[in-house]
Amino acid sequence: MDIILIGAPGAGKGTQAERLSQILRIQHVASGDLFRKAFQEQTELALKAQRYVDLGELVPDEMTIPAVLGHVEEPESLHGALLDGFPRTLAQAKALDEELQRIHRQIDLAIYLKVPLEELLRRSTGRLFCYANQHVYHDTFRPPPVAGRCDLDGSTLYQRPDDTGEVLRRRFVIFFNEVTQVLDYYREQLKLREVDGNQSIDQVQAMLLNEINNSRRRETKA
Ligand code: AP5
Ligand code: MG
Repeated sequence: MDIILIGAPGAGKGTQAERLSQILRIQHVASGDLFRKAFQEQTELALKAQRYVDLGELVPDEMTIPAVLGHVEEPESLHGALLDGFPRTLAQAKALDEELQRIHRQIDLAIYLKVPLEELLRRSTGRLFCYANQHVYHDTFRPPPVAGRCDLDGSTLYQRPDDTGEVLRRRFVIFFNEVTQVLDYYREQLKLREVDGNQSIDQVQAMLLNEINNSRRRETKA
């Protein structure tokens, strides 16, 4: 299956995608994580993309689309991909459809994780990120067992520089400006589902799995 998780900054896309990709055995492809990994490795993509991420702006489509589609086509994504943070613009959504069609795949489901703004702020400002593999924690909602250390790989936890102040505000403005077009695009294709993301991590996971299983059942019948 190829599934998209759509949601504002802090909605829980990464948290859920980390779990669901293991349960469903499909590859988690997160555009933000790809950029942050590129920054650590100082790749050519990093040199071009970093100034946009640092300002909370979208990285231009001509850099983002090839970077993400490359991962969607990898052998690891042969059984499908769980896309987190992509597509964020209509042009990205169309490019994704074209590419999937070319390789005889298609988006099965686009799920919008809806969370109220004040909760998004609480989640974003308390988030802790693992340096080595971008595992996600929260100082209150999901504290690491050992302070400052990732439980899964032992690496240092840090606060993302784009999780504070004006940069965080800018990310929200851009998200809410762009998302309507993307939601409409999948709604018109009858692929859009909404899930209430303002529940515990386990409850949200259960609701997402429910939507995914329903979609699978529909496809099996068709
Ligand atoms: P990106 O990294 O994709 O950031 P984002 O979309 O803004 O989303 P976040 O990662 O902030 O939130 P999330 O939904 O993953 O939440 P999480 O699970 O961590 O993008 C960063 C930048 O890269 C962009 O600003 C842009 O510059 C660039 N970029 C990326 N994609 C692009 C694209 N397609 N086009 C152009 N540019 C692009 O959870 C948040 C916190 O809440 C965590 O602490 C977690 O523990 C906690 N939490 C999660 N769920 C719950 C719950 N149910 N209850 C309580 N706490 C919870
Ligand atoms: Mg994320």
